[in-house]
Amino acid sequence: MAHLLEERTAVVTGASSGIGRSIARTFAENGSDVIVADVREDPREGGTPTHELIDDETDAAAAYVECDVSNVDDLETMIDAANQFGGVDVLVNNAGIFRPEEFLEATPDEYERLMNVNVKGAFFGSQLAARRMVENDGGSIINVSSIAGLVGNGGYVTYCVSKGALRLLTYALAHRLGPEGIRVNAIHPGGIETAMMEDAHMGPDALDQFTQAIPSRRIGEPEDIAGVALFLASDLASYVNGESLVVDGGYTYTG
Ligand SMILES: NC(=O)c1ccc[n+]([C@@H]2O[C@H](COP(=O)([O-])OP(=O)(O)OC[C@H]3O[C@@H](n4cnc5c(N)ncnc54)[C@H](O)[C@@H]3O)[C@@H](O)[C@H]2O)c1
Repeated sequence: MAHLLEERTAVVTGASSGIGRSIARTFAENGSDVIVADVREDPREGGTPTHELIDDETDAAAAYVECDVSNVDDLETMIDAANQFGGVDVLVNNAGIFRPEEFLEATPDEYERLMNVNVKGAFFGSQLAARRMVENDGGSIINVSSIAGLVGNGGYVTYCVSKGALRLLTYALAHRLGPEGIRVNAIHPGGIETAMMEDAHMGPDALDQFTQAIPSRRIGEPEDIAGVALFLASDLASYVNGESLVVDGGYTYTG
């Protein structure tokens, strides 16, 4: 299975930590050079920065670019950075923030910040990457949504709105960019063990209850998502376009 992404260049947002870090490492193990685009260089969970790990562990090249995805100038810098490796072939819009909220108290500023990172970042990141991909005769864009983009939850309404928007961004872009040879797909992770899960402040009882409701009876690992991203980025998925892949151990569609 090695080298599914030989001679490709991938840009992965939010790749310093968690799911994005695992996607970046998996892509590099499969031959892709990687741009790690993130607001921070050090992983939220601790450890060696992703680009250094890739340099140490693989034959692929990697570089870190400081980028706040809600800032379009930063997104341009991120896409330009991929030119040192031949230009972007794969974009993973993974950067995101989660905030539990009481809907009745949510403020316009909080709403705007979350939507700017989770949705505006993916919208304009895709636009800038697609301009390059059109010149390069194609590419693959992957949006990391959530099961919260499929099912509403009153404990984090803005997050659900943002992840639902990513789902429809995926379908609309697949329609627009398919004729240009660009595939656009979404991944909808369930609960995945990262620093973000800790942002949800689940106590041990709630975590146990959640795990028992998952047919696979475990919380997901970042690698569970990275494998699916690898599939979608590679030619194995060359006829998969405008698809939403739910990766949640069976949680959403059972019971
Ligand atoms: N962990 C889960 O249970 C879960 C479930 C469903 C979906 N997701 C989604 O997966 C993606 C990755 O989540 P994770 O669990 O790895 O989170 P994480 O918090 O562990 O890592 C997110 C990374 O994104 C970066 N980031 C945050 N804001 C940014 C910005 N404005 N610009 C650039 N980078 C930024 C952070 O610095 C961090 O490195 C997110 O979009 C998240 O919504 C996570």
